[in-house]
Amino acid sequence: MKTEKGERVSEAEIAVHWQEEEYYQPPESFVEQANLTDKGVYERFSPDKFPGSFEEYANLLHWYRKWDAVLDSSHPPFWRWFAGGKLNASDNCIDRHLPNYRNKAAIHFVPEPEDEATQHVTYQELFVKVNEFAALLRDFAGLKKGDRVTLHMPMVPELPITMLACARLGLIHSQVFSGFSAKSVADRAADAESRVLITMDAYYRGGKLLDHKENADEAVELATKAGQKIDKVLVWQRYPGRYSSPTPLVEGRDFIINDLLKGYRGRRVAPEEMLADDPLFLMYTSGTTGKPKGCQHSTGGYLSYVAGTAKYIQDIHPQDVYWCMADIGWITGHSYIVYGPLALGASVVVYEGVPTWPDAGRPWRIARDLDVNIFHTSPTAVRALRRAGPDEPAKYEYHFKLMTTVGEAIEPEVWRWYYNVVGKGEAVIVDTWWQTETGGFLTSTMPALHAMKPGSTGPAMPGIYPVIFDDEGNEIPEGSGRAGNICIRNPWPGVLQTIWKDPDRFVGQYYSRYCKDPASTDWHDWPYLTGDGATQEADGYYRILGRIDDVINVAGHRLGSKELESAALVIPEVAEAAVVPVADEIKGRMPELYVSLKAGYASGEELEQRISDAVVAEIGPIARPRAVLIVPDMPKTRSGKIMRRVLAAISGGADVGDTTTLANPEVVAEIQKLHGRYELAHAA
Ligand code: PRX
Repeated sequence: MKTEKGERVSEAEIAVHWQEEEYYQPPESFVEQANLTDKGVYERFSPDKFPGSFEEYANLLHWYRKWDAVLDSSHPPFWRWFAGGKLNASDNCIDRHLPNYRNKAAIHFVPEPEDEATQHVTYQELFVKVNEFAALLRDFAGLKKGDRVTLHMPMVPELPITMLACARLGLIHSQVFSGFSAKSVADRAADAESRVLITMDAYYRGGKLLDHKENADEAVELATKAGQKIDKVLVWQRYPGRYSSPTPLVEGRDFIINDLLKGYRGRRVAPEEMLADDPLFLMYTSGTTGKPKGCQHSTGGYLSYVAGTAKYIQDIHPQDVYWCMADIGWITGHSYIVYGPLALGASVVVYEGVPTWPDAGRPWRIARDLDVNIFHTSPTAVRALRRAGPDEPAKYEYHFKLMTTVGEAIEPEVWRWYYNVVGKGEAVIVDTWWQTETGGFLTSTMPALHAMKPGSTGPAMPGIYPVIFDDEGNEIPEGSGRAGNICIRNPWPGVLQTIWKDPDRFVGQYYSRYCKDPASTDWHDWPYLTGDGATQEADGYYRILGRIDDVINVAGHRLGSKELESAALVIPEVAEAAVVPVADEIKGRMPELYVSLKAGYASGEELEQRISDAVVAEIGPIARPRAVLIVPDMPKTRSGKIMRRVLAAISGGADVGDTTTLANPEVVAEIQKLHGRYELAHAA
């Protein structure tokens, strides 16, 4: 396929190409109060000041011991930021705020049922709860520094409490998104070798109180099969004092945290003094192969980077009320609900449920009632809210000063609705591009310094030096508007340290592609491969075109093609599976799944449904394919490789191009017919 400029782009780049848009200036009212109005920031972070420039972020934190070196880059690409420095993330997000903000809300928890009261957790209460729970984790669960703990928690205050209690003890938490399946939990617990699982009995989603505990039972069973014994399941109660799940507790294995905590009242636990490069958490993300990667983030570098970027890009002041609608189970929630904002002493909103529940006015009522002034969400959520209630925001009295978009490219039309209707023309918008691996933002306009350009993320963050390579490794000239593979030239404090237990995969995945000399100990030779296609326009702004690898971005979340395909192969009738992304009005992209059957089996709706359900069971509801198409055979090259390009063209209604090189070109027309029939049947 070709772009409007006639360049070839890979099939995974089936990109959003739109015309240049107008610029919007940040509102005066925003600039007057912004944390960063000094253009000198780029001078402070200029290449010749690297890496010392990043001390500006580290200095936002409380350190028990100052670092010996800002960056130890002697073993590329295993960077050690603030080497020798000591700190604790829980101390930085809680204890140090107590003298000034003891009675200020750290967390406003909004339950999904609208008649249930909002809970306000002050910094003092957070301190008490985190200490008591940390004591329990240490003394009851027997956990100690360096142990991994798997969490499968919904959007409730107990999730940040659990994370911060882990951080206090130096435990490495690995939170799995609550919507992910028991199988996902089991795989991640097995990879991280966690013997403790922390979960909740139930939570609300779309008006239903879901039984969440049943996932834990299945996860423990599957983890055992995968070779990992989970000996304790710690269960928070959604309603303290009442068990809300129909799934019984397993004697000797499952324990109600709310009951146990009675034995830990008043307990205090001194925060562990962690080295800056001790891991803080693992966050698993999809990759090009079936197995999710445990991205390992550090304590000192990560916390510095998210604090710095939350301050400058989210413009968080302690008096702000900040609401990021993402789930804490994703990196956005880790960095920009929990660690960044709390390190700055913000008040954060945690909302349990679906944004459009019970109606599309819900977010704006929450914003009004809590006086939220910073709002953060994804294009998928903006599209859904726009469709469900285009006129709702105007009905509610709230005022945002800043709004963030993250996770996928936002179409200019949707951007304008976000700006004019949600933001009422008063709020600055930042379109932040980054990844699970990068810890924090890579590109964005600086909210008080740059004009916004709808659909374009903006220039690189201070201290981040991107470079765009072509497939041969030549640098594409800056500002040329030509598409290529965007990399980051330099290390930065937020970047992942490694893939848990798999340093070779880490190097191979992120650093091998454009490293000219694997023996080099000079960081200049180790550009970080983001896996995204991008252009840089003459104004210096980057436009992200999408993934260049086999990853499909559904509603801003990454799903590996291989993971989806492996899930389909669980069904015994399935011989082969191939997944391709198709455009979706709300979610941006959705997977379409093509399968061929083993000899002797017939296609049918029941089988399609079973395959679709298998994908949900293996990964989670987010992965449900838009369509399952049972085809007589896959289009294949003569060497037997499935031609996903052809399937993607069929799904996208595009020209399939030259198919004469296929081993079985005749199958293309048959698949087109099947797809056409599917579309007709579902058009109604
Ligand atoms: O393709 C890019 C897209 O989301 C990917 C990262 O996904 P994940 O690790 O799940 O993290 C999502 C939240 C940080 C990227 O490789 N992406 C993220 N932000 C943007 C984006 N694409 C376009 N514009 C963005 N602002």
